[in-house]
Amino acid sequence: MNGPIALTQLPQKNIFRAGDVFVLFGELFGRGYANGLVNEARQAGMSIIGITVGRREADGTLRPLTDEELAAGEANLGGKIINVPLMAGFDMDAPAGTPTPTEMLGKLTLKTWTEDKLDWDHIATCREIGVARFKTSLAQVMATLDGMIPDGRNVFFAHTMAGGIPKAKVFLAIANRVYKGRGDRHQSSQVLLDSDLGKLILQNFDEVSANTFGHLIEASAAIRERAERSGGQVCYSAYGYHGTSILIGDEYQWQTYSNYTQGYAKMRLERIAQAAWEQGIRATVYNCPEIRTNSSDIFVGVELPLFSLLRALKRENGGAWAEAQWQACRELLSEAGALDTVMQRIADFYATDVMKGYGNFAAWPMPNSQGLADLMIGASDDIVAMHKERGALITDLLSALVIEASGALMFRECSAPSGPVLWLNHDIIARQLNQAHG
Ligand SMILES: NC(=O)c1ccc[n+]([C@@H]2O[C@H](COP(=O)([O-])OP(=O)(O)OC[C@H]3O[C@@H](n4cnc5c(N)ncnc54)[C@H](O)[C@@H]3O)[C@@H](O)[C@H]2O)c1
Repeated sequence: MNGPIALTQLPQKNIFRAGDVFVLFGELFGRGYANGLVNEARQAGMSIIGITVGRREADGTLRPLTDEELAAGEANLGGKIINVPLMAGFDMDAPAGTPTPTEMLGKLTLKTWTEDKLDWDHIATCREIGVARFKTSLAQVMATLDGMIPDGRNVFFAHTMAGGIPKAKVFLAIANRVYKGRGDRHQSSQVLLDSDLGKLILQNFDEVSANTFGHLIEASAAIRERAERSGGQVCYSAYGYHGTSILIGDEYQWQTYSNYTQGYAKMRLERIAQAAWEQGIRATVYNCPEIRTNSSDIFVGVELPLFSLLRALKRENGGAWAEAQWQACRELLSEAGALDTVMQRIADFYATDVMKGYGNFAAWPMPNSQGLADLMIGASDDIVAMHKERGALITDLLSALVIEASGALMFRECSAPSGPVLWLNHDIIARQLNQAHG
């Protein structure tokens, strides 16, 4: 990929209607991106079907949801959930009687982890077991799903899975430093990636955030062929991240959060969509803007580009509604006039040499640095502190707007997708919002 391929037109077509089927491939969390698509599917009157990743017992065994958990999940989703655990990754898999990768990490210490070596043959075996477990469960899910999709219906598969951070104490401490540490708590992401620990984590990210999309496309081949033979259309969407163009000064410019350690998996996800597309399958990765969700809250500073969306709303012919968003944001800050200070801080942030040095698309995902950590995490903490309440941030309001707009854009674009990898930049997000609320 030489440069980002942006979605530049508001997609107009919608083929999805009552009786068609929307399948959410991942669980739905309160603030998650998937809410945007699920809301669109609901409004179109589609039948909604979900999956679960399952739950872990105290001893690590993976189990389906209990009746109570299932009922809560289905009420939240507004649809049926196929109760076969689809936890991806191999961090908790191993041949009986041998340590799982997470247990292997238990031996690493904060003093020695950069030098500690892992047994790669054993890890390869654990990986095979994890992948086989996932694919076996997925075949079961697809068999059930097949019976829930009548002939001739359109089917929308929405992949949302991303993750794979092993629950090992040593890593959680390191992650806190890589993503949240500044000053003498800063930890270089490159040192992490060069260690055996980092290499293991990248493999697990690949399995959870990328390869699951390939497994989904492959395992649903029979459903796809039957639906298409009987007059339906089938499409696949996935959420990518590969930086976003936002309004910096007077121009939209590509920028990114660094170090986005999951970036290698996200590029693999793009390649999976491209390979499927070449076989005539409508699979599209939508590279989405930075927002705050359960999954992204660990990356302190990832939310900074969101503030520029306020300016994009005005720039894209925003009227009274756009002005109302500015006003709502002003009211979340403690002092009158503070929003101007915030916007200036954001402008200054992007004008620094440090941030300019991170504008190299071809070098993505670039490692973090002491300079970046101090600047970005510092700005993030200072801006949060300017709010009346930590539980009601401007970035909460703006994240919800991005979720709404991305849902509408992806839902319609999937009716006649124009390519396997598309960026949803702040310009199209702002235009979508202004149109919907104008
Ligand atoms: N938040 C952002 O700034 C941002 C930006 C661009 C793209 N995305 C992508 O959007 C998608 C949804 O993420 P989100 O930020 O809304 O957070 P989220 O926490 O709401 O969603 C994460 C999803 O990953 C699934 N998941 C987590 N671990 C899993 C595992 N081991 N096996 C299977 N599934 C697993 C969860 O069930 C859930 O569906 C992800 O692909 C994410 O990378 C997020």
